[in-house]
Amino acid sequence: MHILITGSNGLLGQKIVAQLLDANISFVATSKGKNRNPDCPEEFYQSLDITDKAQIESICDGQEFTAIINTAAMTNVDACEENEAECRKVNVAAVKNLYEVSEDLGLYFVQVSTDFVFDGENGPYKEEDERNPLSIYATSKRDAEDILINGNYPNWSILRTIIVYGEGNNLSRSNIVLWAKEALKQGNELTIVNDQFRAPTWADDLAWACIQSVKLKAEGIFHISGPETISIYDLVCRIADFYGFDKTVVKPISSNTLNQKAKRPPKTGFDLTKSAKILSYRPLTLEESLQYITN
Ligand SMILES: NC(=O)c1ccc[n+]([C@@H]2O[C@H](COP(=O)([O-])OP(=O)(O)OC[C@H]3O[C@@H](n4cnc5c(N)ncnc54)[C@H](OP(=O)(O)O)[C@@H]3O)[C@@H](O)[C@H]2O)c1
Repeated sequence: MHILITGSNGLLGQKIVAQLLDANISFVATSKGKNRNPDCPEEFYQSLDITDKAQIESICDGQEFTAIINTAAMTNVDACEENEAECRKVNVAAVKNLYEVSEDLGLYFVQVSTDFVFDGENGPYKEEDERNPLSIYATSKRDAEDILINGNYPNWSILRTIIVYGEGNNLSRSNIVLWAKEALKQGNELTIVNDQFRAPTWADDLAWACIQSVKLKAEGIFHISGPETISIYDLVCRIADFYGFDKTVVKPISSNTLNQKAKRPPKTGFDLTKSAKILSYRPLTLEESLQYITN
């Protein structure tokens, strides 16, 4: 096995790198610009902007990869709403590049997608449920899925996931658990939505599922999330309880008071039956994972 990882400076990319190093599986880690992950040895790193197909072809030249795992994306949902052209370039056109190179070279391709392809009216969702994206980010991820679903080359999986959390090095953006832990530590009042429900996903579990799908060459769509769907408000209260912070500072608010640019689905969450059966996916509970967050 020899794996090309994109977006290796991101949270998921870093977790995949760590697990491949542990398992002694060979890989090339890539991201736009320099390597910002000190745990990724420089000899395993190359810069790659996935919007440039020639760069992808050049990195694959002479490498004999067996698979590509695409974790790179424009992931800031509100920034996507403001810059649709850039969002579609990274989240759709670049996925077409990676899919076409996979097809040309006979590689297995893993694309990471999102619960936001659903409108959140009927969660928790199964893989085959009807999609109805509500934002530019969500539409871009749906359209990326369609490149694989409607293509002629079947050697791929789409792993959909939901708010991913964990620690990483020099991340370009934080995540809900790190952010809430830090804010609770400072004792600030926090206003948190109580009308959006999600199944938060431990980044290490998602990384494991990406690698497992490569090992099994599992084909099709898989739902990969944490085991429990809860409101964001309850999530932050559980984080406070776990780390022993005062949760009376956490105040519930409704989403419509936030004025967020991109519309969010009210209730997602996933049915994990298929990924449990085919990938043997067994996610940690929230509290089991929180014990590993040290900072
Ligand atoms: N995080 C979540 O809550 C969540 C929820 C559902 C689905 N997902 C999906 O899960 C995947 C991984 O998410 P994540 O949390 O690991 O995201 P992340 O931390 O934002 O990482 C994405 C990485 O992609 C890199 N990137 C952006 N444009 C690129 C380009 N043109 N070429 C190469 N690399 C590029 C970014 O580089 P910079 O660091 O330099 O910006 C970043 O390191 C994404 O497909 C995302 O849509 C995430």
